[in-house]
Amino acid sequence: MQIQVTTTPDELAILAADRIEELVRTKPDCVLGFATGSTPLSTYQELIHRYQEGRIDFSKVRTFNLDEYWGLPPTHPQSYHSFMQEHVFQHLNIPADQIHLPQGHGIDEETACRDYEREIRRAGGIDLQVLGIGTNGHIGFNEPAKELRLDTHLVTLTQATVLANSRFFSSPSEVPRRAITMGVRTILSSRRLLLLATGPQKAAILQQLFQRGISTELPASLLHLHPDATILADQDAAALLA
Ligand code: F6R
Repeated sequence: MQIQVTTTPDELAILAADRIEELVRTKPDCVLGFATGSTPLSTYQELIHRYQEGRIDFSKVRTFNLDEYWGLPPTHPQSYHSFMQEHVFQHLNIPADQIHLPQGHGIDEETACRDYEREIRRAGGIDLQVLGIGTNGHIGFNEPAKELRLDTHLVTLTQATVLANSRFFSSPSEVPRRAITMGVRTILSSRRLLLLATGPQKAAILQQLFQRGISTELPASLLHLHPDATILADQDAAALLA
């Protein structure tokens, strides 16, 4: 696992967008894995800017998102479907039928999980997966636990995650308690991983990531096993690294 530290979050967004742009240029029909959350937003804005300038064509790109709340219809303003539509997809030329997020509504759990895994396989796997990291070390919604699930599955969110995500809702009680997420094998099967971390609130978990061994209690530590995983961190997030 490599780490690259940038001076500012804006610089991080440029470097992350560079990697994605390079992939789309060399493989126009590549499969991109996207994350929601605050961290990748500036990277997405940078990609949108480059698309608007005519530098990148996304028309053949296929995408898979990491996760979706369970029980929210795609049209719900807080669903990850809506989030991605608002912040990313409506600004790019990716055809709707090439965009995939887990289905968190109107479907039974088993079918939703199986179909998502099948779609990823049918697309030939993910070329580059963008990740954020929870302050508790989660990736996707794979929360710290004694055992981690391998494939896409339904998960109960920890109180820490519910609280962290309540900033997008009017109150913590409105945050869904469950979510459907890619499993750790799904994530680690991506050919390239790009984990983005910005801000002082990520400093302690990045420190643990580099000080502790691999543990399911720190799901992001599994990235140490991946042959092509890069962490892009800004100075604040990297502040406690030696
Ligand atoms: C989002 C996701 C989460 C976030 C993580 C960090 O799809 O799967 O793992 O990446 O919670 O969120 P932010 O970027 O808001 O700090």
